[in-house]
Amino acid sequence: MSEIDSLKGELQRLQEKALASFKNAADLNALQELRVTYLGKKGELTHVLKGVGKLPPQDRPVIGQFVNATKTALAEALDSAEALLAVKEKEQRIEAERIDITLSGRTSPRGALHPVQQGLNEMTAIFSQMGFEISEGPEIEDEFHNFDALNIPQEHPARAMHDTFFFEASDEQQAKLLRTHTSPVQIRAMKNCVESGGEPPLAVVAPGRVYRCDYDVTHSPMFHQVEVFKVDKDVSLAHLKGVLKHFLSAYFEKEIDIRLRPHYFPFTEPSAEVDIGCVFCAAKGCRVCKGSGWVEVLGSGMIHPNVLKSVGIDSEIYSGFAFGLGVERLVMLKHGIPDLRLFFENDMRFLRRMGVSK
Ligand code: PHE
Repeated sequence: MSEIDSLKGELQRLQEKALASFKNAADLNALQELRVTYLGKKGELTHVLKGVGKLPPQDRPVIGQFVNATKTALAEALDSAEALLAVKEKEQRIEAERIDITLSGRTSPRGALHPVQQGLNEMTAIFSQMGFEISEGPEIEDEFHNFDALNIPQEHPARAMHDTFFFEASDEQQAKLLRTHTSPVQIRAMKNCVESGGEPPLAVVAPGRVYRCDYDVTHSPMFHQVEVFKVDKDVSLAHLKGVLKHFLSAYFEKEIDIRLRPHYFPFTEPSAEVDIGCVFCAAKGCRVCKGSGWVEVLGSGMIHPNVLKSVGIDSEIYSGFAFGLGVERLVMLKHGIPDLRLFFENDMRFLRRMGVSK
């Protein structure tokens, strides 16, 4: 065999061996080492090239071409093996770094407003939309605002009926008390108006806490009321009835029938208790309405001339209506809550159920 043929054969074997080893390379590092092994300065191809010097000069270009072809073939094979491995390694890395998003997350518990506060907000918003201005008086009141100015003088039997919590006071001091209703806000708002040089019209909604020394299934020593009143020229009972019907239908989110029953309050004349058609039985008669089809929800009336007089408003020119409603009672009716005490026991099961309702 001639020298040139044996060199060609050697190159052929070298190429086959190299291509096979590239295919089996485990990773990019191994491939890099193979590149050095075959194509490096001291690599196998260089080694073969040394044999070229022994060839007669006319054979050298022929074998030179062969060597170049082998070199190109090896380089190309290395490049494509490298590209393949790079893709494979990237896929492996992505797979290894995969995050399991199927595990459910840790949620933080969401708070909610207390059902009574939700009720207060809803009610106040309805009156606010009707143009009533929001006003809040103090919970610690004096006898003037809670009683005297509301036409409940010292020895009036209505005082005893209010089950008032009094603060201790010496004889010279005006006795302080926890307000028994939100009606004193009527006095404060009207006085404020007159004393700052203003005059009616006056339309006010006053939400807040009230206190009575009373505790059983239907009474709590602290509860909430919303007081609403309007003073202007020519205010009549018809306005009272219209506002009540609109408010109650808006709050219960359905048409509500109302009934005004004659009653007595010292600070209104005439006075009326207001019943609504029972929302539980569609006025057919049930346990809640005690078979009557009607449920009492609030006290109301036309502001007594003596009350207007006590704040310096001329009752010959102006008249007004007023009413005060029990917030807990309305929330109970709206949501079918059977026991008043649920509001004050802070049982999380009850609060959670009510918290998501709105
Ligand atoms: N203040 C009365 C009460 O608490 C309710 C009421 C307010 C009645 C305004 C008439 C007018 O019982």
